[in-house]
Amino acid sequence: MLVERVTVDARRRIASSAADAWPFNVPAVRALAEGGLALTAPVTFLVGENGSGKSTVVEAIAEGFGLDARGGRAGRKYVNDRPKTPLGEAIRLDYTLAGSRMQTGPRSKKRGFFLRAETAFGLLGFVSGMHGYWEDDVTEMSHGEGFLTVLESMFTQPGLFLMDEPEAALSFSSCLRLVGLMHQLGEIGAQVICATHSPLLAATPGAQIIQLDQDGMQTAKWADLELVDHWRRYLSDPSAYLRHVIGTP
Ligand SMILES: Nc1ncnc2c1ncn2[C@@H]1O[C@H](COP(=O)(O)OP(=O)(O)OP(=O)(O)O)[C@@H](O)[C@H]1O
Ligand SMILES: [Mg+2]
Repeated sequence: MLVERVTVDARRRIASSAADAWPFNVPAVRALAEGGLALTAPVTFLVGENGSGKSTVVEAIAEGFGLDARGGRAGRKYVNDRPKTPLGEAIRLDYTLAGSRMQTGPRSKKRGFFLRAETAFGLLGFVSGMHGYWEDDVTEMSHGEGFLTVLESMFTQPGLFLMDEPEAALSFSSCLRLVGLMHQLGEIGAQVICATHSPLLAATPGAQIIQLDQDGMQTAKWADLELVDHWRRYLSDPSAYLRHVIGTP
């Protein structure tokens, strides 16, 4: 693991954004600012409803580590050229020994990647074949194939890997491959922080799950997640849900 705690610098917070303005008006961000977030496992999932703050938090962690909030890898110059998000300005990461070694070492030794579904494809095509990325031209692949190429070629070394709803591009079996990959990353000393709506991904063995909601953020068990419960019930009887949205045929 590289990062063991995420906190928000109170002085920076005031400088960057008022308490009642975005992002500090999002309950999960407020909770993060007030109590911090301890990362207790090599793989952490952030789950919660649309708008609960998952992307805001993942993006800020990316920026705290020195990754572009729009997605990309660490150790490249261009990541510092853009203004950070308000939470990214204020966020602080507490590193493990391995993490602080990586932060204080040369930029080329800094390993990390932020893959977000919305911006991934443009970035992937742009950097295909560039040194330090991957050989294959992902613009000639399907969305999911391109995604897996990136995941499997970049996610091979200890580093901080951030993902925002990677399931958007992936089939069931590709999601399973991703679970295998994330688990393996945890075993080799890397760290994964992933926002997801996927009960399949969230079931990665040994992962820490943080649920974001109106009350803030709390640790949750996979089997108790609302998301898991909804999918379980939907798959066993879709009509129980569908009658509320389209009425009874
Ligand atoms: N740049 C922004 N300026 C103002 N408000 C924003 C901005 N980006 C996000 N928000 C708001 O912050 C809240 C949290 O958004 P965020 O994108 O982090 O949610 P999320 O949990 O990732 O949702 P989803 O599951 O839909 O991806 C939402 O209410 C959103 O409208
Ligand atoms: Mg999001």
